[in-house]
Amino acid sequence: MKGLQGTYAFVTGGASGIGRAVVERLAAEGARVATADTSAGAPGELPLIADVSDEAAIRGAVAEAVSAFGGLDLIVPNAAVQLTGRDDRADRLDRDAWQRTIDVNLTGAFLTAKHGIAALLAGGGGAVVFVASPAGLYGIARGLDAYSASKAGVAGLVRVLAADYAGEGIRVNGVLPGITETAMNHWWMGDPEQRAAVEASVPLGRAAQPEEIAGAVAFLASEDASYVTGALWPVDGGLTAV
Ligand SMILES: NC(=O)c1ccc[n+]([C@@H]2O[C@H](COP(=O)([O-])OP(=O)(O)OC[C@H]3O[C@@H](n4cnc5c(N)ncnc54)[C@H](O)[C@@H]3O)[C@@H](O)[C@H]2O)c1
Repeated sequence: MKGLQGTYAFVTGGASGIGRAVVERLAAEGARVATADTSAGAPGELPLIADVSDEAAIRGAVAEAVSAFGGLDLIVPNAAVQLTGRDDRADRLDRDAWQRTIDVNLTGAFLTAKHGIAALLAGGGGAVVFVASPAGLYGIARGLDAYSASKAGVAGLVRVLAADYAGEGIRVNGVLPGITETAMNHWWMGDPEQRAAVEASVPLGRAAQPEEIAGAVAFLASEDASYVTGALWPVDGGLTAV
């Protein structure tokens, strides 16, 4: 499959989980991919180290990708944290945990979009696919108040950016992954009883593999989605349909 041949992509959080699967899928479809992550070891042609909450770092990483590829066509703001053990319901949530979550998940997504979209505009258009979460739309992640609020902000960004840039050839969408087998969930997925109970709440009866989320990202990035913008697409095994 060579659906993204000639596409230059920039993906954050590409060293692990969903981001890693996205990089591998885009590359398999022919894209050249740069990544920005705080951890090393991302696949793709240009793995860069940058913290998405640091504007100078993310601006620099986008500039490096533009200079290496000659431009960018696709931006995937995906990096996020879930501060397990620190994120909590509001009355127990300390401000530092709240702030770090908002800084990485929402401000980081904004900064990636800000500098990424500037590169898309310079090249005459392109696509942005955010990795959001159903926890941003529904109260399904009890006790993860900072995470849920950060992802609600990302959903808001998807819609307003779609409106802002539709006239300039840029489509903006988001995927809403359901429970996906990544490092973010290893803390509870390792307990077979807890895993079985959570998976029983999913109509498809199982967690997603990161590759299944990456497939939806690749579709939204592609010309097959040429009339799709401002969409938040659940890829959740039916979790939010019931
Ligand atoms: N796993 C799930 O069940 C699930 C469900 C819904 C949404 N999501 C979303 O999917 C995305 C990917 O999460 P994942 O499950 O693959 O988690 P993960 O922990 O496996 O991967 C997250 C990646 O982001 C990087 N990262 C963290 N903070 C960063 C920062 N400040 N700057 C740059 N990179 C940073 C990490 O190093 C890591 O490589 C996130 O936006 C997450 O909120 C995940």
